[in-house]
Amino acid sequence: MLNLPLKKGPARTTVLFASVLLIGAFVSVRWIDVSIRGVSNEKEVIIHEHPQRVEISFNCSAGNQTRSCPASFPKTFQGAEDDQASPVCPDYFRWIHEDLRPWKETGITKEMVEGARKTANFRLVILNGRAYLETFLKSFQTRDMFTLWGILQLLNRYPGRLPDLELMFDCVDWPVIHARNYRGPNATTPPPLFRYCGDNRTLDIVFPDWSFWGWPEVNVKPWEYLLKKLKQGNDRTKWKDREPYAYWKGNPDVALTRQDLMKCNSSDKHDWNARLYRQDWISESQKGFEQSDLSRQCTHRYKIYIEGSAWSVSEKYILACNSVTLVVKPRYYDFFTRSLQPIHHYWPIRDDDKCRSIKFAVDWGNKHKKKAQEIGKAASEFIQNELKMDYVYDYMFHLLNEYGKLFKHKPTIPEQATELCPEVMACPVEGLEKEFMMDSRVKATKETNPCSMPPPFDPSSLQAFLRRKSNSIHQVELWEKKYWENLNMQP
Ligand SMILES: *[C@@H]1O[C@H](CO)[C@@H](O)[C@H](O)[C@H]1NC(C)=O
Ligand SMILES: *[C@@H]1O[C@H](CO)[C@@H](O)[C@H](O)[C@H]1NC(C)=O
Ligand SMILES: *[C@@H]1O[C@H](CO)[C@@H](O)[C@H](O)[C@H]1NC(C)=O
Ligand SMILES: *[C@@H]1O[C@H](CO)[C@@H](O)[C@H](O)[C@H]1NC(C)=O
Ligand SMILES: *[C@@H]1O[C@H](CO)[C@@H](O)[C@H](O)[C@H]1NC(C)=O
Repeated sequence: MLNLPLKKGPARTTVLFASVLLIGAFVSVRWIDVSIRGVSNEKEVIIHEHPQRVEISFNCSAGNQTRSCPASFPKTFQGAEDDQASPVCPDYFRWIHEDLRPWKETGITKEMVEGARKTANFRLVILNGRAYLETFLKSFQTRDMFTLWGILQLLNRYPGRLPDLELMFDCVDWPVIHARNYRGPNATTPPPLFRYCGDNRTLDIVFPDWSFWGWPEVNVKPWEYLLKKLKQGNDRTKWKDREPYAYWKGNPDVALTRQDLMKCNSSDKHDWNARLYRQDWISESQKGFEQSDLSRQCTHRYKIYIEGSAWSVSEKYILACNSVTLVVKPRYYDFFTRSLQPIHHYWPIRDDDKCRSIKFAVDWGNKHKKKAQEIGKAASEFIQNELKMDYVYDYMFHLLNEYGKLFKHKPTIPEQATELCPEVMACPVEGLEKEFMMDSRVKATKETNPCSMPPPFDPSSLQAFLRRKSNSIHQVELWEKKYWENLNMQP
């Protein structure tokens, strides 16, 4: 690992910094003399015993309308010596160890990073706390922008605390680093490639998706705001007062499995207890998205989650509803879903017999109302407590921190790269993009340390965890089988 060349202990800085805070907590942080151009040695180091809350200003006229980043900004940090143990992070952070395992022995080299370039949309370099972007190929919609925006907010939240690193990011849905190509006697180490989801055959590193900072194309607001709205919505309608059916609304055209699900819609012939609706984003966008307000979609006791072309960002909104989430057997995972337990957080639905599986799930829940409500509550509490924005940032922090520790080389700023900061991104944009960026902006540094990383799974506990999960799914399948046998026996 490459450590920052910190200047040790300039007491002057400490005193000056402390007094600035005393004078007024709202003073801009840009008093520190940091040279703007790349790797400068003229760096001041903030020394404080504990992280301090420092307001972060945002001024589009300061950076010449603003093609450049403000010169001075705290980009370095020396952790408190009595680094008090913060509360342990949620369990899903343990998967960070698993995702980085391929490089645990070898570390990460320049060549490995270059190897990930083939499909990457961009390379991001973090050097001395500043971010540099090299774009290879614009992503679909504004995925890349809002992902980068999120990383910039992380840098402001914990200034100077990430090690130097460079990463390749692919914004396309499907994972592409196939594990089978890196096995065997002559196996090489896979290239580290970041993206939004993975599956059990691939080694892509999963990272929170753009929607946590907003998805302007479909008017999905930043997560922090939506999380509050969803909670208010849940308090409005009690589980028992909701429609006793399974609800889904989305775009069925993106995947065969969704088209298959559409067959379960209620009709004259059958009622599979499913109420399925097509989301037409184009007509919705013309009508101002009145019908697609996510916090007003918690109207049914059961909500179906089904993958699209890969994982779907909708999962967190569905799980947040207090309804029982009926998860059609997924193939992909994102950064938080691997810790969800069937029967505890959600109800598993067969992929190869969806209608009967949904019919059974809804009948079961309407008969076991207490248990069904508990499942809904466990999921919404997980989302409210463990997937709040603080933890999304901490997940990014720990993932990048552990990733950066693996580096064997000091990254350099690529020739084609430009420095990236919130001003460069947000000043030129307008409309919803601007609104969502401003709403999700980190306005002050964090006064506490990130949560502390849980240890890796030991192999036996990981096996036990996976076994428990598959046993629960198997249990439901048995109940389901019995349910249909009994029904069919009735005259
Ligand atoms: C923004 O920057 C400009 C130019 O440096 C400065 O004149 C102005 O006072 C700043 N505005 C705020 C609100 O800090
Ligand atoms: C601002 O940017 C423009 C064009 O990028 C440049 O011509 C001008 O000199 C800059 N002004 C300052 C004060 O840096
Ligand atoms: C591994 O490399 C050796 C020497 O280059 C070669 O003879 C052998 O066939 C390779 N084995 C595999 C499985 O590729
Ligand atoms: C499902 O059925 C309902 C009620 O009949 C209908 O309003 C809805 O459009 C149907 N959904 C789809 C996707 O066809
Ligand atoms: C990987 O996932 C597929 C389908 O999603 C499943 O059939 C297979 O058993 C899984 N393999 C392992 C090793 O878990």
